[in-house]
Amino acid sequence: METLKVKNLSKVYDGKVAYKALSDIDLTIEQGEFVGIMGPSGSGKTTLLNMVSTIDQPTSGSILINGKDPFRLKHNDLALFRRRELGFVFQDFNLLPTLTVEENIVLPLTLDGMKVKVMQERVDAVAKKLGITEILKKRIYEISGGQAQRTAIARATIHQPQLILADEPTGNLDSKSSRAVMEMLESINKKDNATMMMVTHDAIAASYCNRVIFIKDGKLFNEIHRGDNRQAFFQKIIDVLSFLGGDSHDLSSIRV
Ligand SMILES: Nc1ncnc2c1ncn2[C@@H]1O[C@H](COP(=O)(O)OP(=O)(O)OP(=O)(O)O)[C@@H](O)[C@H]1O
Ligand SMILES: [Mg+2]
Repeated sequence: METLKVKNLSKVYDGKVAYKALSDIDLTIEQGEFVGIMGPSGSGKTTLLNMVSTIDQPTSGSILINGKDPFRLKHNDLALFRRRELGFVFQDFNLLPTLTVEENIVLPLTLDGMKVKVMQERVDAVAKKLGITEILKKRIYEISGGQAQRTAIARATIHQPQLILADEPTGNLDSKSSRAVMEMLESINKKDNATMMMVTHDAIAASYCNRVIFIKDGKLFNEIHRGDNRQAFFQKIIDVLSFLGGDSHDLSSIRV
């Protein structure tokens, strides 16, 4: 079954000079797939993710998530759809700094009016899975970057969404925390059969995906599949990136 079907998608940003950030993108992601999106800076990755996450509207073309077109939903239904079926993980975590880890994690459930006891069980389970049980009562400004990203993943997954969208989830983390975060995303993908789409510059992070799609100048450039060897996949990703002429930042941390 398809979780995401993007057809003929284009995005033009209006401004003093109109700019076509994406042209005619076709992309299908099957249920349970973990797909990475890579490409040089300015190639349109965040633009694509923002439209799939319904934050921004396409100029033309269509997006179906579980067979539904979110852009046809009424305002309130769209809010519900986003809250129930999508999970978001951002580079800057987007956590509320003065709330505790626990309060941040349950936020999406509170909005849905879930019973306190059920919420507590869910929080305990997800915190255990992500190794943040000990810091549940701390406030966000009291925890490390890696802990903040794990908290953000807990919040994005506690309602067991069908589709998890991540933009540079390891962008602000050191290599050890990055790995831990990727292993957690991989395990959520496998155990909960959640579909994932992740934008990243980080070839190591991308090597955890089943498939990586490369975008260049707003168009699909190439895609490669992982197979069973992550090391070999990492090398293939590096090869495509250097062919694409990514910035040196893309190639700076070669340790698998
Ligand atoms: N709101 C906007 N208005 C006008 N142009 C925009 C807007 N957002 C992005 N762009 C332009 O669209 C292009 C694609 O931007 P996008 O943010 O999708 O790139 P990206 O691939 O995510 O890059 P990066 O790797 O640097 O995050 C860029 O040329 C950018 O300048
Ligand atoms: Mg971006």
